[in-house]
Amino acid sequence: MARIIMGIESSCDETGVGLVRLHDDGTVELLADEVASSVEQHARFGGVVPEVASRAHLEAMVPTTSRAFATAGLSMSDVDAIAVTAGPGLAGALLVGVSAAKAYATALDVPLYGVNHLAGHIAVDTLQHGPLPSPCLALLVSGGHTQLLRVDDIASSITELGSTVDDAAGEAYDKVARVLGLPYPGGPPIDKAAKNGNPSAIAFPRGMTGPRDAAFDFSFSGLKTAVARWVEGAARRGEEIPVDDVAASFQEAVADVLTAKAVRAAKEQGIGTMVISGGVAANSRLKELAAERCAVAGIELRVPRPRLCTDNGAMIAALGAHVVAGKRPATPLDFSANPALPVNVVSL
Ligand code: KG4
Ligand code: ZN
Repeated sequence: MARIIMGIESSCDETGVGLVRLHDDGTVELLADEVASSVEQHARFGGVVPEVASRAHLEAMVPTTSRAFATAGLSMSDVDAIAVTAGPGLAGALLVGVSAAKAYATALDVPLYGVNHLAGHIAVDTLQHGPLPSPCLALLVSGGHTQLLRVDDIASSITELGSTVDDAAGEAYDKVARVLGLPYPGGPPIDKAAKNGNPSAIAFPRGMTGPRDAAFDFSFSGLKTAVARWVEGAARRGEEIPVDDVAASFQEAVADVLTAKAVRAAKEQGIGTMVISGGVAANSRLKELAAERCAVAGIELRVPRPRLCTDNGAMIAALGAHVVAGKRPATPLDFSANPALPVNVVSL
């Protein structure tokens, strides 16, 4: 019999509640995906303020849950299992979702699964494109993470091939936006400005691409500094900053490194399918260049729609459904949130 899985997400600045239906054939159907974001409360600080985020989760949790059930036309008693983000993320923010999930699971007497936020970003793709082939390669690019992952089983087996050694890709977008006087979060305005700019106007550095660098690790802090120096230099000389060209050239450097390393990893591992997810997967140039390079290499590319790429509850419900389908054990109710949960731990 089909089962209803509820997913709760609160690791950063989005309070998400998702509902999915797990069918007997293992396919997962999206029923509701409600998100309340506190991003506007953080904008003037240029980044997420943990205490502000925690308070916003507390206020949004119950209303967001009610909206999800109303959208799906379900009542709470229809729920068969609950999944909640156990980590990684901000400690106080995670705690709000975990506490709410424990309360709902206890009240409804259903099993609870503490799951990995990063695995959720990959699992969400199954809501749009169906079951994931095994193995597949995931490029996870968000405000907090930049990782290349080998996924043999989304419910139980994820291996990290590489990650950023400093800033996450989204973080670099946010910092460069600030240098250019563009609003936070920086990804969307840079993406927009870049459309009117010349991507080869300025040759910004491609981090970690030297012969002695780890093939699948990333570095974006040198790129961010190079952009800041370039803009400072132009300002000192009294020149007008060509925002569109700087944005396009910066974006080209990010997309170039991400796609080159991801395609190389897929080829070396003999993997035929690539999934790109996380907030930065909404980037138009990243998607375009990835499509080009995957086509040349004969790799199938899957990128969930932007709404599914950014943090949400449906991704946690989807992962929960795969964990349930994989007959993984439920998490004992006394578990704690783990802000540093490693990516290979899919469920606690
Ligand atoms: O996955 P996400 O919503 O939250 C985290 O878990 O971090 O990702 C947010 C990040 C921000 O850094 C934002 O600037 C970036 O995703 N982002 C983009 C675009 N849309 C959002 N970066 C580049 N291009 C975009 N179109
Ligand atoms: Zn995320």
